[in-house]
Amino acid sequence: MLIDSFKFYSHAKNNQMKILSLSLIILYFSLCSTKAQTCNSGELGWSEISNMLTAAGCTGCHGMAGGFSLASYTNFIQGGNNCGSDITQSENFLGAITIDNFNACQGTVNGMSMNDRATNPLDSLELLQIKRWLNAGVPELCENFCLNNEFVQTTLSGALYHFEVDSVLEANNSIASNADITYEAGQRITLYSGFNVDVSSVFHAYIGACE
Ligand code: HEC
Repeated sequence: MLIDSFKFYSHAKNNQMKILSLSLIILYFSLCSTKAQTCNSGELGWSEISNMLTAAGCTGCHGMAGGFSLASYTNFIQGGNNCGSDITQSENFLGAITIDNFNACQGTVNGMSMNDRATNPLDSLELLQIKRWLNAGVPELCENFCLNNEFVQTTLSGALYHFEVDSVLEANNSIASNADITYEAGQRITLYSGFNVDVSSVFHAYIGACE
C-alpha cells in the first residue's frame, strides 16, 4: 500500500515528494512502535504468560513448590525438581497442568494435576495460548513471538483471539458461541471438514505477514 501511494506521487514536484517521503517514514515508525508497545494481536511473551499463571493462582505455591519458581522468566525456564529446563517442552508443562500423577522427565509429579490445585484453573484458550508460546520457543518478549505453522483443533467459545503464523495455518475446530476469532497466515489457510462457526460468533481469515 505504501509503495503504491509512493508511485502515485512520484510525478509530483520535488518539494511535495520530500514531504511525502517524510510522512511515509513517520507513518512507518509509528506503526512499528505501536506494534512493539502493545502486542495485542495474539503475540505472547513472559509478561502475558506470567499474568495468566498469577491469575490462576499458580504463584501462590510456586514461590518455590517442587523446586519450581514462577517469579521470573529466568526462573521459569529453569523448571522444577522433576523436569528442569525440559519444562519448556509443551507436553511436559501442559501435562503437569492437566494430568494427575503426571509421569515424565525424571519421574512423577505426585498427586492432583496443577489445574486441580489452582484456585482459578486455566481454561482451554489459556492452555492453547501457553502451548503456542512454548511451541514458539518461549520468547521472553511478545514482539519476538511467531509460530511457523499451526493446526488449530481446540473448540473456542466466548474467546477473543488472533492466531497468527508465518507460513501455513490449518484448522478443523469449532468456533462455538460468542467468540471473535481471527486466523492469519503468511502463505495459506486451510479449513478442513469439521471446521464450523456458530451464528453468535465472528470469524475472519487473512493472508498477511507474521510481524
Ligand atoms: C497448592 C499448591 C500448588 C498449586 C496451586 C500449583 N502447584 Fe504446581 N506443584 C506443586 C507441588 C507441591 C509440586 C511438586 C510435586 C511433585 O514433584 O511431586 C508442583 C509441581 C509443578 C510442576 C512440575 C515442575 C517440575 O519440573 O518438577 C509444574 C510444571 C507445576 N507445578 C506448574 C504449576 C502451574 C502452572 C500451576 C497453576 C495452574 C500450579 N503448578 C499450581 C504445588 C502447587
